[in-house]
Amino acid sequence: MIVSPSILSADFGQLSRDIDMLNRSRAQWIHCDVMDGVFVPNISFGFPVIKAVSKLTDKPLDVHLMIVDPGRYVGAVRDAGASIMNVHFEACTHLHRVVQSIKEAGMKAAVTLNPATPVAMLQDIIGELDIVLLMSVNPGFGGQKFIRHTLEKTRQLRKLIDDNKLSTLIELDGGINAMTGAEAAAAGADVLVAGNAVFASDKPLATIEALVSL
Ligand code: DX5
Ligand code: ZN
Repeated sequence: MIVSPSILSADFGQLSRDIDMLNRSRAQWIHCDVMDGVFVPNISFGFPVIKAVSKLTDKPLDVHLMIVDPGRYVGAVRDAGASIMNVHFEACTHLHRVVQSIKEAGMKAAVTLNPATPVAMLQDIIGELDIVLLMSVNPGFGGQKFIRHTLEKTRQLRKLIDDNKLSTLIELDGGINAMTGAEAAAAGADVLVAGNAVFASDKPLATIEALVSL
């Protein structure tokens, strides 16, 4: 399992200490949650923080943009050091164009679906996507409860990807811990984002290890 710890739950006063912990962990990616206070009811951090994180690690940065019209920021996201640019289906009027420009900029293209958006909305673009992220909470805050219907959506998405003989990765984000992570793995997830489960843990390295082993 690929594990992408979300630094939204890190201690921003000790960010380099927390990134150092991730560097020593078996986590393969680092998840950066950007929120604009418009697309979601919260504001987190932006490009200067992502750039600082990219200087502290060699792990790929998985940048999840919870902002309106994210296509405006493809160059800025790349320049901040992202390897994966994750945009919301609900935030893009011309999703196909945004996906092409992410790939032209040399990043992996990921599209996120909110809990109420059906998997079927991706059937005409799935072949273009490196990753699909299914939100398993409503975006905006860490530490929320896993929405169980996401497991059914994961199975539907697994079928869509397998039926088309694609290698698109399925990423789940929100309320992931050892228990929900195991259910996500059984349903066909390839990547798990975990914020609270990692950073509120007494033993974050062991928590990450347990998720990687799923
Ligand atoms: C929520 C963010 C998530 C969040 C996950 O809007 O997209 O990445 O940090 O946090 P946990 O794992 O605490 O639910
Ligand atoms: Zn996220």
